Amino acid sequence: MNPTIKILQSHRSIRKFTDQPIDARLLDDILSAGQSAATSSFIQATTVIRIGDSDKRNALVELTGGQKYVASCAEFFVLCADLHRNQQQVLELGERPDYHWTEQFLAATVDVGLFAQNMVIAAQSAGLGVCYIGGIRNHPEQVSEMLKLPDLVYPVFGLCLGYPDQNPDKKPRLPLTAVVHQDSYNLSDSVKADIVKYDDAVKAYYIDRTQGQLEVSWSQQMAKQAAGQSRPFMRNFLENKGFMRK
Ligand SMILES: Cc1cc2nc3c(=O)[nH]c(=O)nc-3n(C[C@H](O)[C@H](O)[C@H](O)COP(=O)(O)O)c2cc1C
Repeated sequence: MNPTIKILQSHRSIRKFTDQPIDARLLDDILSAGQSAATSSFIQATTVIRIGDSDKRNALVELTGGQKYVASCAEFFVLCADLHRNQQQVLELGERPDYHWTEQFLAATVDVGLFAQNMVIAAQSAGLGVCYIGGIRNHPEQVSEMLKLPDLVYPVFGLCLGYPDQNPDKKPRLPLTAVVHQDSYNLSDSVKADIVKYDDAVKAYYIDRTQGQLEVSWSQQMAKQAAGQSRPFMRNFLENKGFMRK
């Protein structure tokens, strides 16, 4: 099989890393691969903050809900959606930029996702493991303060990189029939039946991974995930940062 596709299809998040550092040239290549991703209207709205300071790493472990691998991975990055840089450049031209549209927020956030996933693929192709850290949005104001993020910059997620010290099984994904529809949206009964089978596969995956401690289907996980509040402070936080005001 095409080796790139093989890497993509063998993705697993890694949460335990060895002490081996990442060579500086490899790191540059990974970052430059990130930067080579497509970018909406050429806005290049990603800023990556590399966290080397161990006090900051430890503080981020706490702020992300006790995720220890934020400190123990070789490299930890906070990936930010950044319209501040563009705003400053446009101001320099004597123009009056308006970056408060929801569409611009979406474009900047999508840019960050593409940049990061390019980094991930580059890293995995070099034998590194990765873990995204959405927990960076648990306390976005404190993170913004710590990293001195100006208005129109927000932390979208963190990214751990390092050499893997574990080899978890691949987590099964929804069947393609559920996620690829032909010509129009169609969540048919046969697709729903496929999802029931998938639920069983996910249950089996967790039973195996946790030696029987956890027995939960994907649908049950989604029910739990959608039951509580979902970072209810996020809308105010983003508006205060200057995003999505209209
Ligand atoms: C944007 C994003 C945020 C995530 N945040 C976290 C996180 O805070 N902590 C964590 O351990 N995993 C996090 N993950 C990893 C997911 O839990 C993981 O990708 C998912 O369960 C599928 O497992 P897999 O990556 O091993 O295939 C995140 C993934 C994404 C894409």
